[in-house]
Amino acid sequence: MASLKIVLYLGVCLSMRNTAMTENDFGPKAENVRWVSLDFKTILTWTTKPSNYTYTVTYSWDDSDWFECPDCTEVSASECDLTSYVKDFDRTFTADIKTEPLEGNGDFDPDELPHTYSPHFNPYKDSNISAVKFTVEAVDESRVIVNITDTLTSIYGREKQLSIREVLKNNLKYKISYYKSGSTGKRDVITDSSMAEVSDLDAGLAYCFMVAAYIPSRPKATQYGAWSKENCTDAGKEVNIGALVGAAFSLATVIIIVVTVVVLCCQKQNRNPLTTQSSQVM
Ligand SMILES: *[C@@H]1O[C@H](CO)[C@@H](O)[C@H](O)[C@H]1NC(C)=O
Ligand SMILES: *[C@@H]1O[C@H](CO)[C@@H](O)[C@H](O)[C@H]1NC(C)=O
Ligand SMILES: *[C@@H]1O[C@H](CO)[C@@H](O)[C@H](O)[C@H]1NC(C)=O
Ligand SMILES: *[C@@H]1O[C@H](CO)[C@@H](O)[C@H](O)[C@H]1NC(C)=O
Repeated sequence: MASLKIVLYLGVCLSMRNTAMTENDFGPKAENVRWVSLDFKTILTWTTKPSNYTYTVTYSWDDSDWFECPDCTEVSASECDLTSYVKDFDRTFTADIKTEPLEGNGDFDPDELPHTYSPHFNPYKDSNISAVKFTVEAVDESRVIVNITDTLTSIYGREKQLSIREVLKNNLKYKISYYKSGSTGKRDVITDSSMAEVSDLDAGLAYCFMVAAYIPSRPKATQYGAWSKENCTDAGKEVNIGALVGAAFSLATVIIIVVTVVVLCCQKQNRNPLTTQSSQVM
């Protein structure tokens, strides 16, 4: 019994020493490795325990060889901007984050160094698209033109910053969602181009519009860009002027009532001493 206890104890001690040695010799692994990508600006992030170790990122695509990225070699930061390395958009990238051994740490097998693979990432399918800017202009009483500005990406081609249209080409569509001001029913229009006509509107009514990039070729989860804030037609302003006139009207009514009450009260107060006086005279 006692000897069994000793053996168990010894075993626990040894295994604890082993893990301790692994940590000391080779440092902590990168954890929680994630891709964060907006308008094709792509950053790899991870978390680490506080230490003096540095990290080196390599990447590959479609299971090719591993490539180094000079900007992310022996960095102490826990993020790496991979935008300019993953610009062959429609490929599945994987990154590998290695913990560099500390200096003077003689013998080690490079395969034993701690490292963490990232999840797969395809910029063309997975990069988020931010909300677009657009204007709405009336053509006539029942039609408007929605003019959408294609957002610029962080990708450069021939010294020029490319727009999402130049990157996504025909796969980029926009969804325009609109409703009659004051009603809850929404209607949607999908457009292939950045300028779209919306027709069949009721004359003289205000309409509000919202736009989001829509990429039906992508997996469901990333098909929509962020929705823009709404923009309403000019009839909206008339409604606002109407509300202003209404507010001014009720304010005037309140003032008239207050003045009338004050005047009536004063008249009463003025009359009171008179009545007292006359009663005294009597
Ligand atoms: C895209 O946005 C969603 C929602 O905000 C987020 O969960 C996801 O991590 C983002 N993806 C990338 C690649 O940044
Ligand atoms: C990093 O190194 C400095 C000196 O070289 C030391 O004082 C400090 O404690 C180390 N930090 C960690 C988290 O190991
Ligand atoms: C709404 O339209 C105005 C000009 O018509 C423009 O300045 C503004 O940026 C637009 N808002 C959005 C969310 O696009
Ligand atoms: C659409 O907006 C762009 C600027 O965002 C402008 O250059 C262009 O003239 C507009 N087109 C129309 C028809 O309003």
